[in-house]
Amino acid sequence: MYMKNLSLLLLLLFLGFDLVSQRVYKKPKFVKNWSKPSKHPDHIVLNFSDDPSTSISVTWRTSKEIKIGYGEIALAAPNPAFISTANTVRANTTNLKFDNVVGVIDRKNPKKTTFNSLDHNYHSVTFKNLKPNTMYGYRVGDGEIWSEWIQFKTAKKVGEPFSFLYVGDAQNYILELWSRLIREGYKKAPTASFIIHAGDLINDAHEEHQWHEWFMAGGWIHRSLPSIPVPGNHEYNPQIQNDIDEGIKRLSLQWNNQFTLPDNGVEGIKETNYYLDYQGVRFIALNSNILIEEQAKWLEKVLSDNPNKWTIATYHHPIFSASRGRDNEILRGLWKPLFDKYNVDLALQGHDHTYTRGRVEPYEVNLVDGENLQDITGTVYVVSVSGGKMYKVKPGWEDYEALRDRVGNNKQLFQVISVDGDKLTYKSYTATGELFDAFDLIKNENGVNSFVERKNEAL
Ligand SMILES: [Fe+2]
Repeated sequence: MYMKNLSLLLLLLFLGFDLVSQRVYKKPKFVKNWSKPSKHPDHIVLNFSDDPSTSISVTWRTSKEIKIGYGEIALAAPNPAFISTANTVRANTTNLKFDNVVGVIDRKNPKKTTFNSLDHNYHSVTFKNLKPNTMYGYRVGDGEIWSEWIQFKTAKKVGEPFSFLYVGDAQNYILELWSRLIREGYKKAPTASFIIHAGDLINDAHEEHQWHEWFMAGGWIHRSLPSIPVPGNHEYNPQIQNDIDEGIKRLSLQWNNQFTLPDNGVEGIKETNYYLDYQGVRFIALNSNILIEEQAKWLEKVLSDNPNKWTIATYHHPIFSASRGRDNEILRGLWKPLFDKYNVDLALQGHDHTYTRGRVEPYEVNLVDGENLQDITGTVYVVSVSGGKMYKVKPGWEDYEALRDRVGNNKQLFQVISVDGDKLTYKSYTATGELFDAFDLIKNENGVNSFVERKNEAL
């Protein structure tokens, strides 16, 4: 009798577990007009568009009724009366109006593709002549309807230590799951100076609803920490039915409107390709979707005339692929030789929805007595993913003559990278805050890096 009951219990437990494992995840529904703009400023985002120690740009969205915008800025102080010292700057206002724009593309059944109408305003202000290493408060609005006061700090002098966040593709389950990731990132590095987004911020380039998810998931982080974004392949989609028929993809209609970025890139792809210098590090943002050759010429100029100690590149498609069925030979042929020649320290990438980190040998190693050859490294390449879509890591990088040091499957990750003089510290954390990967780069007087694995050490 006892055995019979036990068998029954085991059967029920088995069936119970089976039912749990077969439970189908239900995507959330959104109330009608959830992502529509109102007269109140939203989608507020900070960017660098000039020298980060003396300027900052802010962009926001409103409904089309709001035809004028202002930014107000003041030196932040403990006394709330600091707001009465604010200067006001008139915004550039642009209307984004488009009918029958392609929204979500159903790749299995293109006839199910959704089309939307866009008709709202963006406003942007660049605050200039700011003091370095200074906290400011700002707000945006139309003169009557205002955002809250938001604080940020300008960059310090060249060589002062700082850290920043880097994330791969947010793209899928943005509100549902990217939210926890970026908030955990902010908790881990609340003093980070900015966030690098290595492409595929959303899944369907022109879909306002998904941009709204991105802004809601990041919340006030986007308006407090400047974003350094590059577009991924998912920021390029057909814009109208004819584009679908002809197989033409175009940059997200929102991109140039909702980000205000340096305009020092290649003509035709400005604000998707640019560079900026932050406290002794040159950050180079490349658009790995189009004009690869033109960007190679631009890249050589930006790398050859670079007074900074460190150089970090970011773009979407990896030079060494991490997932099956992918390879970006053209990038490897045109950009990697320049990374080697000019000692790019770190390449921060996305696209492959998994984690890999590896490195190449430096170009023309000048061996110094007593130096351990194994520790010498050229560019370190990282692929990371921050959203909910996951692919499997493919076998090693033997074909690429590169050393792959670390892989990870099925993990939402963010990275905190710190630069302090001759030392760069890299730490990758899971969405639940555990350290997943870590290393240091130590730069010698010849500009050659030593690589120090840290994951297994006490940190
Ligand atoms: Fe992606």
